Amino acid sequence: MMLDKIDELLKEISNLTAKNAEDIERLRLKYLSKKGEITGLMAEFRNVAVDQKKTVGMKLNELKQLATYKLEELRNTISTGQTKCEAFDLTRTPYPIKLGTRHPLTIVRNQIIDIFQRMGFALAEGPEIDDDLHVFTKLNFAPDHPARDMQDTFFIETHSDDVTKNVILRSHTSNDQSRIMERRQPPIRVICPGRVYRNEAISARAHCFFHQLEGLYIDKKVSFTDLKQVLLTFARELFGSETQIRLRPSYFPFTEPSAEMDISCHICGGEGCGFCKHTGWVEILGCGMVDPNVLEACGIDSNIYSGYAFGLGIERITNLKYHVADLRLFSENDVRFLQEFESAY
Ligand code: PHE
Repeated sequence: MMLDKIDELLKEISNLTAKNAEDIERLRLKYLSKKGEITGLMAEFRNVAVDQKKTVGMKLNELKQLATYKLEELRNTISTGQTKCEAFDLTRTPYPIKLGTRHPLTIVRNQIIDIFQRMGFALAEGPEIDDDLHVFTKLNFAPDHPARDMQDTFFIETHSDDVTKNVILRSHTSNDQSRIMERRQPPIRVICPGRVYRNEAISARAHCFFHQLEGLYIDKKVSFTDLKQVLLTFARELFGSETQIRLRPSYFPFTEPSAEMDISCHICGGEGCGFCKHTGWVEILGCGMVDPNVLEACGIDSNIYSGYAFGLGIERITNLKYHVADLRLFSENDVRFLQEFESAY
């Protein structure tokens, strides 16, 4: 008797249809609510004879599962008929959207650009792939001069008959100097940030690419004093007003005289510590007065004009400012490292 009723319901339920949510609710009330038919059968189950309990119990469970499944299926079919917008739960809390951070090299590059722009320098950029003429020759590197070995260069194309035609990955941003001077007459006051490449074994202290920022100022009566004052102002803006600078004579083919600039160690204030190797000074850039040969090679009259140039490594300055011990961290894309700079601007 009970089994017949169950079979009848199984058939009935498998053929159920619904047009809308109200239909489904009506069916739910009919079969599964407290007063529903299936719930009623469940209540009667205790009166079933013991020898039939197993069969009837199994059938009853099957019926309940079918009803639950069928109603769910009907709900899904009518919900696909809903508009897209209704299908979204707009009350749900959204996943937090995590903003990224600026790369430390970008942060420091922007700080440096900002300082020089306030001193009247315009921003310029040059090519990373360039010819020997602009990277070396016009900058007073004679074709067979050993000064070319100062920068281990990546060659893309070589021309043994004429090395000035060699195509290379620029080993410094100074190619921007020659390209700008070639295009324009003074006054020229620019800074050129960019990526440079050198054929170095990758280690904590060297990489095959890094970033530089070149500065160039050409006008009438530009003197070494101007260079020194601009660099002092730069160092104090970047590392603090107590910073001292020191210029040591050096050699670059494109500047004469040339110098390397140190700043007083901002960790120990110049007293000497492990960071500055107990000298009180740390080197930050190369600079000098543009060699008259360079001006002439780029079409500028060296009897009328003079100028200075400087070049600095952005990784080096970033290491000094943020104490990054290993250069490789800059290009590994490890978010744990990058997130350290979340609060820097
Ligand atoms: N181009 C030089 C280098 O990469 C740096 C420099 C630039 C020095 C300008 C003097 C003047 O080593």
